[in-house]
Amino acid sequence: MTFARIAGTGSYLPPRVVTNDELAARLDTSDAWIRGRTGIRQRHIAEDSQASSDLALEASRRALEAAGLGAADLDLIVVATSTPDFVFPSTACLLQAKLGVRDCPAFDLQAVCSGFVYALATADSFIRNRIAKNALVVGAEVYSRILDWNDRATCVLFGDGAGAVVLAAAEHPGVHASVLHADGSQAGILSVPGNVCGGRIVGSPFLQMQGGQVFKLAVKVLDEVARETLAAAAMRVEDVDWLIPHQANLRILEATAKRLGVARERLVVTVDHHANTSAASVPLALDEFVRAGRIKPGHRVMLQGVGGGFTWGASLVTM
Ligand code: ACO
Repeated sequence: MTFARIAGTGSYLPPRVVTNDELAARLDTSDAWIRGRTGIRQRHIAEDSQASSDLALEASRRALEAAGLGAADLDLIVVATSTPDFVFPSTACLLQAKLGVRDCPAFDLQAVCSGFVYALATADSFIRNRIAKNALVVGAEVYSRILDWNDRATCVLFGDGAGAVVLAAAEHPGVHASVLHADGSQAGILSVPGNVCGGRIVGSPFLQMQGGQVFKLAVKVLDEVARETLAAAAMRVEDVDWLIPHQANLRILEATAKRLGVARERLVVTVDHHANTSAASVPLALDEFVRAGRIKPGHRVMLQGVGGGFTWGASLVTM
């Protein structure tokens, strides 16, 4: 039987850091409010010249290096993003060209903040079914482009960045189980309800959110999907070394860990310095903890996504 394992991780944050105080200098908000309600103290913001594919490229190079592979070894590229460079071609195709390779299938996957977990489950399936051996799975976002910077209720929450993993065929898992869900009836609570039509933007190009409803739903489904994933892998919560929920809000993370009975020391938190980077948040957090030597080979990690759609999902992996 063929399984997939994470052979390398990488990430990239644009150098420009925007603190809460910088936002408070031009918005009716404060460092105390943002930290108290979300745990966020800063976010990274891309330069105008940087698109999602540029952030993805840096993260991908680092993941490939960590895996000891070259871009020519890839036979699948999946990019999770809801801030693609263009309507088309896909950011994955642009990334493939920037990596200097051609031929392997490359596509984007749109599941908003659950995008990376959806992409990981998709690539895992390709590898288990022997359609691919080495897959590059990326979450890359420039949310700064879809925020209304005058809307204090949303713009303080997000940041830009990219994270990547190389998923490689292996004799042992790797990815033990993944569970994915969606509920399109909740589309309205978190959306960018706009499109390009006839040369104009129709609708709104800015992120809109009913924060309270998102908060409640996120805590509920993150708990449920973790339990479903453990059941699918025939494991218990005690078997999990690290919990990496989508980094939306510290209060969501802590509530999820508490409901699951995961100790605070086993909860990975990067939202304080990355803010919410949507599809990039989970691989960014994973890479930070791998490179810090905290997540080690053999550790079991629960990766969780939740976001617009509404979508949610989880993967349980042994590193
Ligand atoms: N600074 C100061 N005051 C603010 C700010 C701000 N940046 N934003 C909102 N307020 C005010 C509101 O106007 C409101 O004022 P009022 O009482 O005078 O009307 C007050 O603060 C309380 O607003 P609420 O929206 O009720 O605050 P809440 O405690 O719900 O926190 C928050 C808002 C942080 C958005 C919270 O609902 C939340 O985190 N929700 C989850 C949303 C999330 O994480 N989204 C990310 C994307 S979704 C995802 O990734 C899953």
